[in-house]
Amino acid sequence: MKKTLEQLRKETPGCLKRIHFNNAGTALSPQPVVDVVQDYLRLEQEVGGYEAETLKSRELESVYSSLARLVGCSPHEVAVTQNATRAWDMLFYAIPLEPGDKILTCRSEYASNYIAFLQRCRATGAEIVVLVNDETGAVCPESLLAHLDAKVRLVAINHIPTNSGLIQPAEELGALLKEHPAFYLLDACQSVGQVPLDVTRLGCDALTATSRKYLRGPRGVGFLYCSSDWLAKLEPPFLDLHAATWTESDKYEVRKDGKKFETYELFVAGKLGLGRAAEYALEVGEQASSRRLVELARRTREGLHELPGVTVRDIGRNQGGIVTFTVEGWKPAELRQALFEREINIWTCTVRSARLDMEARELEEVCRASLHYYNTEDEIEEFLITLKGLLR
Ligand SMILES: Cc1ncc(COP(=O)(O)O)c(C=O)c1O
Repeated sequence: MKKTLEQLRKETPGCLKRIHFNNAGTALSPQPVVDVVQDYLRLEQEVGGYEAETLKSRELESVYSSLARLVGCSPHEVAVTQNATRAWDMLFYAIPLEPGDKILTCRSEYASNYIAFLQRCRATGAEIVVLVNDETGAVCPESLLAHLDAKVRLVAINHIPTNSGLIQPAEELGALLKEHPAFYLLDACQSVGQVPLDVTRLGCDALTATSRKYLRGPRGVGFLYCSSDWLAKLEPPFLDLHAATWTESDKYEVRKDGKKFETYELFVAGKLGLGRAAEYALEVGEQASSRRLVELARRTREGLHELPGVTVRDIGRNQGGIVTFTVEGWKPAELRQALFEREINIWTCTVRSARLDMEARELEEVCRASLHYYNTEDEIEEFLITLKGLLR
């Protein structure tokens, strides 16, 4: 990494007080990100919100170049939204669907996305096809090939699910979709900041992400990438006076760049914080930080495997920083509370957030310890010792 661990932890004051293994929920923001947000809020307080925005217009515009550098696209292909779900919705609801059209997705799909599939299929007569998993639990690329016909309008996959260490073979799927006209929408909510992303390499037409998770930005903000080709084809499901211009009393013109998916009003301080978080991720070095967090998660799984009554629930050949497990004699939410009282943050995922996957594996709820590059081997040790002490 381009910063030392000591530097990284010094810039993350929260990790001096608690062990934060909830980076898939919200990571701890580094001080430079918090400074940008606080300074902007102070400026708003001093000069007024609109006036602050005008004074910081250059910095606000540079958020697009930072995000573009992070995912390897052009700044005009980026939109800043209030979260990952709305970013995803703006793209998904823009895809025209007719009776018999197909949406291909994966078993690990996130609840909000799947609910949107159900809603639109009910309204349009389109169908959802869930691709088959391989023996490790990842989407099987052959299953994609088997279903790829003229009726497929959309392939929507999550890169890293909320409820397991799995990293889906997004790049492999992108290569298979290269010649197919379907829209390839990648939910990169958990992967941005966790693994290096490059939209050309991934071969996706669009990607959606959030600020608060592995990217370590503030809450209440997210972003999307949409390729220039698809930007020209898609009409956003909602428009306002920022996304479009009211040119005559009965006419409007939609913007041509990614901002057509934005709304006028947004958490502006958060937008600046998101840009700073993207810069920070680039400063730390994405390859090295990803390698480190994956290794920390691997060690955690290894340690958990050795504890009696603990079952690691991660699937997939390729695994990232999210570690899921269950513990005999403990309800996940109760264990989370017991660890919280001992200065350790983990989270839990229920069947409601990824129903297809959890039901197939007969899981109602799992514990989730999600590690970041600023976590340490000592923290893993302490977590395992504390957990061992709690075993019944
Ligand atoms: C895989 C995945 N997709 C989408 C989302 C939604 O993100 P947001 O809460 O920013 O809308 C989440 C949130 O946990 C997620 O884990």
